[in-house]
Amino acid sequence: MTIRRAHITGWGKYVPEKVITNHDLAQMVDTSDEWITERTGIKERHVRGDNDTTTSMAVAAARQALDVAGLTPDELHLIIVANSSPDYLLPSPANFIQHELGARCPAFTIAAGCSGWVYGLSTANQFIQTGAYENVLVIGVEIISYALDYTDRTTCVLFGDAAAAVVVQPATDGSGLLTFELGSDGSLAHNLWVPGGGTVNPVSQTVVDNREHYIRMNGQEVARFAIRKLVSCLQSVTERAGMSLADLDLIIPHQANLRIIETAAKYLNLPMDKFFVNLHKYGNTSAASIPLALVEAIEQGRVKPGDTIGLVAFGSGLSWAGAVVQMGVRETAAAPVNGNGHVKVPV
Ligand code: ACO
Repeated sequence: MTIRRAHITGWGKYVPEKVITNHDLAQMVDTSDEWITERTGIKERHVRGDNDTTTSMAVAAARQALDVAGLTPDELHLIIVANSSPDYLLPSPANFIQHELGARCPAFTIAAGCSGWVYGLSTANQFIQTGAYENVLVIGVEIISYALDYTDRTTCVLFGDAAAAVVVQPATDGSGLLTFELGSDGSLAHNLWVPGGGTVNPVSQTVVDNREHYIRMNGQEVARFAIRKLVSCLQSVTERAGMSLADLDLIIPHQANLRIIETAAKYLNLPMDKFFVNLHKYGNTSAASIPLALVEAIEQGRVKPGDTIGLVAFGSGLSWAGAVVQMGVRETAAAPVNGNGHVKVPV
């Protein structure tokens, strides 16, 4: 029996125009371009403009992905949105995105922090393997800046806003999502969280005064976890695919911190040119990070038809997720080149 696997046939991205550089941040908190560059590799990040919403950013990325796949919104069977920064607490952004796109299919949101998009891709794969759905849109979108405390130098320098999306469809030629691993260790949850605004500690004047509606992070603990998981998750998804790390043409890690990626590369005994890195331009865009990097890797020709790529994420939860994806070789519909750097590549 031929296995149906989720095969990436369309991709798109949206990055807000507004840029905050390290120098800008140095005017706001006690930090410097040198510190941020040396400790993280980040030089600048994009943040939402007045007209950007979680929905509008996701829809812009999704429209490009649909164009590349040659699909119209009403041909979609499912929309999965990875997101932790919704337009409203209720309903989930997936419903707004579905409506705004003009799709009629089911839509839901996965909140798994920075691991969310790989969770979403793996979930899409299940629906495709069972034959339940054929055309699935998997979006990663974050306006994480809304949850940043711009008086806290330990967090506000790290994150940025973005959206990216892929269309997945069944492939029976052996390409597509080969293996995945999803993980959660809730015992570490309080190392990266927003302590106020939920049901335990609802929004109140005290919550706002204590700035508990913003992200709090134990950076060193998260960094240790991140390195551990980058290494072990990548090894395990590759082994399960019957491959060695050397067989991967490119690794797309979660774009949180260059030092984390460099340390993981050393443990894995891999050269840095095996890893795609764009965090210097965007910072950590959470659930949008891996799809944004994937889209840019395709646009830059770093991902080619037939390539095997490793994806590996870690984030709040603390959670992790990895996958091995083999890009297909069939031609996809042409997509327009536009101001957002969107180009068509046969995959
Ligand atoms: N500018 C200047 N100094 C700073 C800054 C800053 N922006 N931030 C912290 N410092 C100071 C600290 O206060 C500390 O000063 P002290 O020694 O006087 O106390 C000093 O720098 C060293 O701080 P550390 O926390 O030890 O710095 P470290 O080298 O660990 O780097 C960092 C901090 C970059 C946050 C690192 O720990 C890290 O990247 N952790 C992982 C974070 C991450 O990836 N989070 C996202 C997870 S994904 C998701 O789901 C959202």
